Amino acid sequence: MADNELTHDTRRQKTGPSYRVGIITASDKGSRGEREDTSGPLIREIAAAAGYTVESYLILPDEQALLEAEMKRICDSGLADLILTTGGTGFSPRDRTPEATLAVAERLAPGIAEAMRMQSMAITKRAMLSRGVAAIRGSTLIVNLPGSPRAVRENLAFIIGELQHGLDILTGRDGECAAS
Ligand code: MTE
Repeated sequence: MADNELTHDTRRQKTGPSYRVGIITASDKGSRGEREDTSGPLIREIAAAAGYTVESYLILPDEQALLEAEMKRICDSGLADLILTTGGTGFSPRDRTPEATLAVAERLAPGIAEAMRMQSMAITKRAMLSRGVAAIRGSTLIVNLPGSPRAVRENLAFIIGELQHGLDILTGRDGECAAS
């Protein structure tokens, strides 16, 4: 993502606290090496440009148990403040990322997925086909992004500036919620 494509809020984050992010790509073909994963590296690029430190990046098959285990590992070890997943949010029988996220969730954060779909619907009505969710486990926020690089860019660019305030509150760095 070119710097001039960053939103005002995204730029502001460059000077903010550096939160840690774990990236999970859910893709059968990607995990078998049959398709290059470009969405995971794109998340890495956007997150780094917004001031995040990328702590982990893993390509997993669309297996709910494996996705749950990786999310739990990151959350319960305190490895990252934010997990961004890509893929597995659609209607394919193998798409299980939202189910894995809900299985490990302690609290839901539905507004994040609502916001992504709201914004994305102005771009493509197929945005309604993403079943992605957002949830909290411990002090880690998990956000599901769709699988294509285009969808990753469109969704993540829209939300990333506001995630910092949520993470400030979630991690106890800021208890105040002043509207901006
Ligand atoms: N959202 C945005 N912003 N841009 C897109 O191109 N693709 C949609 C949707 N959300 C899309 C999007 C499509 S076509 C699908 S099928 C769903 O995300 C689910 O994608 P996934 O199965 O790759 O997770």
